[in-house]
Amino acid sequence: MKRIVVVGSLNMDLVMEVKRIPKIGETLKGERMNYLIGGKGSNQAVAARRLGNEVAMIGCVGKDTFGDKILKHLKEEGINVSSVKSDDATFTGIATILKTEVDNSIVVIPGANDFCSRELIDENIELIKSADILITQLEIPMETVEYALKVAKENGVKTILNPAPAREISDEVLENVDFITPNETEFEIICRKNIKDSETLEKEMVNWQNKYRSTRLIVTRGKEGSSYIEDNLVKTVKAMSVKVTDTTGAGDTFNGALAHGIINNYSMGNIVRFAGTAASLAVTKLGAQTGMPTLDEVNHVYTKSEME
Ligand code: RIB
Repeated sequence: MKRIVVVGSLNMDLVMEVKRIPKIGETLKGERMNYLIGGKGSNQAVAARRLGNEVAMIGCVGKDTFGDKILKHLKEEGINVSSVKSDDATFTGIATILKTEVDNSIVVIPGANDFCSRELIDENIELIKSADILITQLEIPMETVEYALKVAKENGVKTILNPAPAREISDEVLENVDFITPNETEFEIICRKNIKDSETLEKEMVNWQNKYRSTRLIVTRGKEGSSYIEDNLVKTVKAMSVKVTDTTGAGDTFNGALAHGIINNYSMGNIVRFAGTAASLAVTKLGAQTGMPTLDEVNHVYTKSEME
């Protein structure tokens, strides 16, 4: 079995279902409240695990009810959480998600995620060294992200950086990133350009990829699909058309599935196709993790191309 290590955040998602997002100063009566496990790191770990990989997680929760619930849930999913620290000096990360029928808006309070430190990486260095790939995101301190990527790269472990939530990424960090997976908004921040339409997006993608040749760029574009560059041309894999219930965690499913495709040596087109299919399936259910598909479920609908 292939080994994936995820260095990242763990949150309790407080999902409030509302008809619309309230205006500033307005109080709105919501429809329903759900306590669901989330955090980009934990979501990506579950996505990768459901596809049959051996997954270990490095991160931090508080020593509290939410932290205990998250650890219990991840263990039940079959994820190795022995490197997730429970810290009694803080509280478990929380995301308040306002979810309408078409979209969502999220406020994250990092809590324990801010305690995911370089020392924690040092304590778990053997776990990273023995992995086939490391995935990380930006809901933990940047210096930890940077260090984890460096340790992985120095030990010949492939790396994925999902630059979410959006932040600028330095060239030093990029040196240790094999795959970077921004959405369109995150890409605007990474390439420091104002992107007004798909033509500009594609032009900037080619420019960026020519500048950073050792980092493979994949831009996720919601219902448009995902794009990458091959031979100086932008290739877009269309998203599968599905009935959307909740888009939370779609990007995380994409990243977990991307890791699966990479370590199983799929062609670039098939990696993106496979990850896009998994993400499309994930949005059909409420909650970041509920709809994340198994390998059989993805393979059932995913059309692999033999031409690449
Ligand atoms: O990517 C979705 C995740 O972002 C949610 O689960 C929430 O916890 C926020 O971190």
